[in-house]
Amino acid sequence: MVADRLGLYVHIPFCPQRCPYCAFAVVTGRMDMTEGYVQAVCDELVWSASSPSWGNRGPFDTVFFGGGTPSRLAPKLIARILETANRIHGIRQGAEITLEANPTTADAQRFGEFRDAGVNRLSIGMQSLVDETLLLLGRTHSAADAIHAYSLARQIGFRSVNCDLIFSVPAEPAAALATTIEQLLVLEPDHISAYALSVEKDTPFHRRRLQGDLPEVDEDDDATQFAQVRQHLTRAGFEQYEISNFSRPGHRCAHNWDCWTGGEYLGIGLSSHSFVEGERWWNLSDLDRYCQALQGGVSPRSGSEAIGPRKKREERIWLGLRTCEGVELEAGELAAMQSSTQMGILLSSGRLTLERQRLRLVGENFAIADAVAATLIETLERDVAVAGCP
Ligand SMILES: C[S@@+](CC[C@H](N)C(=O)[O-])C[C@H]1O[C@@H](n2cnc3c(N)ncnc32)[C@H](O)[C@@H]1O
Ligand code: SF4
Repeated sequence: MVADRLGLYVHIPFCPQRCPYCAFAVVTGRMDMTEGYVQAVCDELVWSASSPSWGNRGPFDTVFFGGGTPSRLAPKLIARILETANRIHGIRQGAEITLEANPTTADAQRFGEFRDAGVNRLSIGMQSLVDETLLLLGRTHSAADAIHAYSLARQIGFRSVNCDLIFSVPAEPAAALATTIEQLLVLEPDHISAYALSVEKDTPFHRRRLQGDLPEVDEDDDATQFAQVRQHLTRAGFEQYEISNFSRPGHRCAHNWDCWTGGEYLGIGLSSHSFVEGERWWNLSDLDRYCQALQGGVSPRSGSEAIGPRKKREERIWLGLRTCEGVELEAGELAAMQSSTQMGILLSSGRLTLERQRLRLVGENFAIADAVAATLIETLERDVAVAGCP
């Protein structure tokens, strides 16, 4: 079965520097490789049309250039990728086309050329609007740079502008997050993604943590900061439609929403993941090996997994409980959930709500989404058979 919503994700790995907390597939100082990389991306798009997994699916409803720092790429290269995607699979008229931008790359001409290439949604990696916090994060831009990037995006007239924020930054003074939120709301963005800093393995922050040189943010502080972000943004009229994502009416990120709610997507480029009904696969994460594979006419895939009925149910629950629409339970799942003592306690506490067969967590209760999902999955594993599974 082909999903009714199709997304294209294109990974652009080039970054001005590697931020000490970042574990994404990025390269620094390889700008001589951008043309070659874009050629490989276009070759992969052509190749995907004859791959048994993706085949002739199309047209795309959304396109997302993520990174890395896609805004480092020359706009004509972004245009070349979009032209190729349109020629091979089609891009629907009016599709949401997002590009992630680092404030250090803000430039009126560049932003204008991205718009002319078809980009209509910009996602700016602000992280904070307090210089001291940006320094703690090892960012190379200032709060003024972030505001300048935002103003340029507005002048250029992008349909929707997102700002990324990071909270729970070790050693950040309590007042700094409040200042960031206050300043951000003055800007009136359409969308805000707010993430708790995650200290990822094999990053400089992780090494510092192991050496005792990076303080922990304890669970209570983390929860307080998440509540602070949530309260201020929802009071200002933003809808928290996913645990980390807030939007003004009509400005949800359609690409991410579709990925979280079962839409199929094709991931092109370094380390990108693709998903179709029944299967997920992902690409090589080394730039040279990725480009060499495509030059040699070889698949850049590095792994895949079958998504059987059990895994599909798990993902439906994990992802659904993180969204404002929750998860629709099947009749057997509903019966098993209702006979579980632990789930009963959650329901009677009012933290979890059930309307007909739809189970939802909203507001501050999003904070327990993962724990509730784990409990529910365990209950269903025990009590409800899945078609096709022993
Ligand atoms: C893939 S990055 C691309 C954005 C762009 N390169 C930049 O940094 O400005 C997308 C977002 O992920 C978030 N992010 C990256 N690493 C993170 C981490 N370790 N913890 C929390 N958020 C993180 C940041 O908010 C970032 O803007
Ligand atoms: S956070 Fe953004 S700019 Fe920094 S290394 Fe990661 S992708 Fe690149």
